[in-house]
Amino acid sequence: MPEQHPEATFALRPEVYDQLVNWPRRLEREGPFFRQIFEQHAAGRVLDLACGTGHHARLFASWGLTVCGVDGSAAMIAHCRRVHGESAALQWVAARMEALPAFDARFDAIVCLGNSLAMLPNEETVAAVLRAAAARLDAGGVIVLHVLNVGHLPDGPIVWQKARQVTAGGVTRFIVKGVHRAGPRAFVDVAEVPSDAVDDFTHCRSTPVLGVTAEMLRSAFAAAGLQNVTFYGDHARTAFDAAESPNLIAVAAA
Ligand SMILES: C[S@@+](CC[C@H](N)C(=O)[O-])C[C@H]1O[C@@H](n2cnc3c(N)ncnc32)[C@H](O)[C@@H]1O
Repeated sequence: MPEQHPEATFALRPEVYDQLVNWPRRLEREGPFFRQIFEQHAAGRVLDLACGTGHHARLFASWGLTVCGVDGSAAMIAHCRRVHGESAALQWVAARMEALPAFDARFDAIVCLGNSLAMLPNEETVAAVLRAAAARLDAGGVIVLHVLNVGHLPDGPIVWQKARQVTAGGVTRFIVKGVHRAGPRAFVDVAEVPSDAVDDFTHCRSTPVLGVTAEMLRSAFAAAGLQNVTFYGDHARTAFDAAESPNLIAVAAA
């Protein structure tokens, strides 16, 4: 499969991304986890880094929190404004996470979810973003990261995760999405089949993403002065197992 830049997979097609995720089910599964963490840390102001189509941000705002959703894709942010609206309690900003040092707002909680951190080019950039995030947190604040645990993938074959029929821009396609690992490198694989050309498998691409590990995050948190680091394997707070857990969820306090 041809490789492409990580952001290109999602940047231009928020409607497609939205239809690939079962949002009611995902938010029902993940919501209680975030609610408990925000309550524990008395969080009132939340930053959602790489907010994508904005559903977490809107959920957090519905709990009475003041939320800022930031995404590097102008198309994603335009979609967020159109679908969720904008108010003093729910704001949208088109900016890359690497631009965080230039932000002057402060937060009680910063989240970066749905493997977005893995779209950064390397470990040094992850560490720099986490350092900048820690600097925007007030004392007692919390950071929550959610990435794919590439360690649980077999080396080689694609693990297909979902297949959906998606209609966007007047075109209906079947989209099949998976992930695979080649040594330490991880890839998101997307095969698109136009519904009027089901034999056409030419629209396949494989996008490299960073294999973010617990060790990588632990050292980045330490360098950023964050503490009380906990790793979970899912949103039910199952302890993280590097070989078995599909997810790596990290929580650290300022
Ligand atoms: C897989 S989506 C996840 C979106 C959302 N957080 C979720 O959990 O569904 C990844 C998002 O990261 C954004 N992104 C990728 N690299 C970024 C960067 N360097 N800065 C800000 N956003 C970025 C993309 O535009 C995309 O919206």
